[in-house]
Amino acid sequence: LAATHHHFEVVEAPYTRLCSKKKILTVNGQFPGPALHVHHGDTIYVTVHNKGRYNITIHWHGVKLTGYPWSDGPEYITQCPIQPGGKFRQKIIFSTEEGTMWWHAHSDWSRATVHGPIIVYPKINGAGYPFSKPHVEVPIVLGQWWKKDVMDVLQEAIISGGDPKISDALTINGQPGDLYPCSKSETFKLNVDQGKSYLLRIVNAALNNILFFSIANHNLTVIGIDGSYTKPLTSDYITIAAGQTIDAVLHANQDLNHYYMASRVFTSNPSVSFDNTTSTAIVQYNGNYTISSSPSSPQLPYYNDTDAAYSFLSSLRSLADEEHPVRVPINITNRIVSTLSINALPCLGNRSCEGPNGTILAASMNNITFVNPSIDILEAYYNHIHGVFGADFPSFPPLVFNFTAEYLPLILEVSKRGTEVRMLPFNSAVEVIFQGTNVVANIDHPMHLHGYSFYIVGWGHGNFDKDKDPKKYNLIDPPFRNTVTVPGNGWTTIRFEATNPGVWFMHCHFDRHLVWGMETVFIVQDGAGARLSPPPPDMPPC
Ligand code: C2O
Ligand code: CU
Repeated sequence: LAATHHHFEVVEAPYTRLCSKKKILTVNGQFPGPALHVHHGDTIYVTVHNKGRYNITIHWHGVKLTGYPWSDGPEYITQCPIQPGGKFRQKIIFSTEEGTMWWHAHSDWSRATVHGPIIVYPKINGAGYPFSKPHVEVPIVLGQWWKKDVMDVLQEAIISGGDPKISDALTINGQPGDLYPCSKSETFKLNVDQGKSYLLRIVNAALNNILFFSIANHNLTVIGIDGSYTKPLTSDYITIAAGQTIDAVLHANQDLNHYYMASRVFTSNPSVSFDNTTSTAIVQYNGNYTISSSPSSPQLPYYNDTDAAYSFLSSLRSLADEEHPVRVPINITNRIVSTLSINALPCLGNRSCEGPNGTILAASMNNITFVNPSIDILEAYYNHIHGVFGADFPSFPPLVFNFTAEYLPLILEVSKRGTEVRMLPFNSAVEVIFQGTNVVANIDHPMHLHGYSFYIVGWGHGNFDKDKDPKKYNLIDPPFRNTVTVPGNGWTTIRFEATNPGVWFMHCHFDRHLVWGMETVFIVQDGAGARLSPPPPDMPPC
């Protein structure tokens, strides 16, 4: 059987939003980009041809690529970028996940417009969905739009050392919707038949935000998250962090009419500026009826409704049935405690240094601000090239203190720059405890691990308590995700079995925190019977 082969041409294309036109980077001229449809067990090839002006890489978010990190995509982690004019054929193996995932650029801020859904159907001739098959499937890609070129927004932030300019709109399937100027005619519309069910394959592709999403007068029944099935959870809104995906069924069971779907930002710290606009789309019933003049508005939780955000997230459970067993590691062999902080670093070079007190903003894990190496870590690891990275990412924070106290020791404001990774023996049972801190500003962080999904066994607001909190862990049916929201000034514990050898990026999925250095790398060493495959011949050169 010939594997399916796709072509991704990275090209600029003109798009008009909010009455202003600009050129954006796209795949095949499309925004959002083309959806990939595959079945569990498939292997596909995607040839990425860079016809743009910038270096680029493409990542398959949530796809484990077991033993084959060469296709994973993050620049300077598993490959060097594909230069303008260059090509790279990526092999993508779908061996464990089922549901919605997505692909996106993993170099600078290109992913603002270079992204699209990946839909993994159940195995051909397999058991099918663990819920009744919906009539229609609809991708819903949530995003963010800047009137300016996003590369300029990023450059300005790097030069100023301050917060990047916030977006001008949120989008649903590439459209801001009719509450903004000049986008009424292009608002995304979903036409539905009364009595039918719609599987919404929702992706949060926004660069820097956690979002609330809901549909007026309708509930959503969540049946999957991050490419893994859940116990059905019915709710009138969802919380979805940057990087996360949710499969939810919409039952068209209301009166013939039209209804808004909408998304807006959730932030537990509204004093850090954010895009406070609301993006809309329309659900319209088919039929002959008199439509009300304006669609009814959905109930969206308020921006800083932390209870609403976290009560949804903590209600999610793995399906945990016979066919979808849960295997939470119990005897932990490798425990890592990591702080997540925003830092202020001394000015360097000719920046204007608009961070607090004439500094530049940075971010860190265990007080290390990650710096990209000059060649990719995977190549350095595979070919034993020394001096590219260090293996000293600390297992514990550099100081023991009250992380969420109002006044923290000044030493924590200043992080250390470095390219430090953590080595993990094959098959180790890993636990990571993330602790948000109050250094410079507390903020929620959607932490994402490549190459794995992990069980979210516990979380809480405030400081992690090593005596009390582990007693409350859910080891029975915790949610299985690849991206987890760590509350600002709170903690989250994840667990996974290190069965996928390779070099795997771990980072905050807010791109502004990613460029500030809130990331590290886990290298899962080879094990007997689980060797890294050799690289493909066309790896992009550095
Ligand atoms: Cu969605 Cu490192 O990526
Ligand atoms: Cu973050």
